[in-house]
Amino acid sequence: MNHDSMDTNNLIKHFLCCTPINTIDIFVSKQSINYFIKFDKQQEILQNTVNSDLIKKYPVKRSYQKAFLKWFMSKIEEEGGEIYDSIYTTYCKLISASIDESIHYRHFLIQNDCISIQESTNIISEGTTGLCSWQGAAELSKWCIENKNKFCEKVILELGCGVGLTGLCIIKKCSPKQYIFTDCHKTVLEMVSENIKLNLFCKRNIQPLLYNNRLKLQITHCHTDVKVMELRWEDINKYINEQWIIPDIIIGADILYDADLFYSLVLGLKTILSFNDRYAIIAATIRNVDTFSHFVHHLEHHNLSFEEYGIPQQMIHMSLTDIPIKILKIFQKR
Ligand SMILES: C[S@@+](CC[C@H](N)C(=O)[O-])C[C@H]1O[C@@H](n2cnc3c(N)ncnc32)[C@H](O)[C@@H]1O
Repeated sequence: MNHDSMDTNNLIKHFLCCTPINTIDIFVSKQSINYFIKFDKQQEILQNTVNSDLIKKYPVKRSYQKAFLKWFMSKIEEEGGEIYDSIYTTYCKLISASIDESIHYRHFLIQNDCISIQESTNIISEGTTGLCSWQGAAELSKWCIENKNKFCEKVILELGCGVGLTGLCIIKKCSPKQYIFTDCHKTVLEMVSENIKLNLFCKRNIQPLLYNNRLKLQITHCHTDVKVMELRWEDINKYINEQWIIPDIIIGADILYDADLFYSLVLGLKTILSFNDRYAIIAATIRNVDTFSHFVHHLEHHNLSFEEYGIPQQMIHMSLTDIPIKILKIFQKR
């Protein structure tokens, strides 16, 4: 693939997962803008972004679509190019349409695959932070795919799964034996179940759920047993006693945001990590150093230790914000 088409594909990729417009500039060189201003390129970009079949069926936020086209038109003008008519028409349609959307989608292109995630348009809605994908989920997904051997044939329990980006990436790319998505919030559990159905094309093999009201969905995808369960961190002990599923690995992305939740989270982690060779992989976005220190203090108090995994170079390039993300391995001190 030549550089120019790589730049086009990159731009499309950033549009589909809604990379903030102000950071798209970092990824798109002046040289590629010169190339994008050609009419056939403008047409190709429009057809693969706002006017694509994927976006018509599963739209990204309309305000994002508008902002993207506005950015694209301003770049063309800055370089002295002429704007392709259909870009104007599409933009005008977007600004004149009344926008009343409570959900939207984001599409993550990962190794020849596309994971589509339905999200709520408000970052905090229905009293939960779990109805949209967080930065930690995106970074942890990339890290897990780079380390897929760790997950192959393992039983994985995700805590605070939100809308399911990390889990879907692991199921699709790392061949786990079992993946259990868990969260405490009813609407989050409904939305992650929708995302699983959307991405794992599983209408035919959904099994009836007769035996347990914690279990919200169970399907099989390419030999992986996939479950969605209600689980509050406060109830992990009870869950282990009821289910007797001792996961090999616990996963969590962006679940270290509220110090008031650390006591129950760490106690829950300790319950599982006290079994031999178990460990947790947590992606922590360090928004506040004191909150993170507080979490470390809880770990020490419960005789748990942690190491930081190195973040691959490629992830640093792809980071969308300046906020540092740590990927932690947490385990029982021996
Ligand atoms: C910031 S969101 C992160 C969601 C997802 N992991 C991501 O990175 O996109 C935190 C998630 O933790 C869940 N959560 C918060 N407190 C919880 C608790 N006590 N027990 C179980 N889940 C909890 C929330 O419902 C929410 O889905």
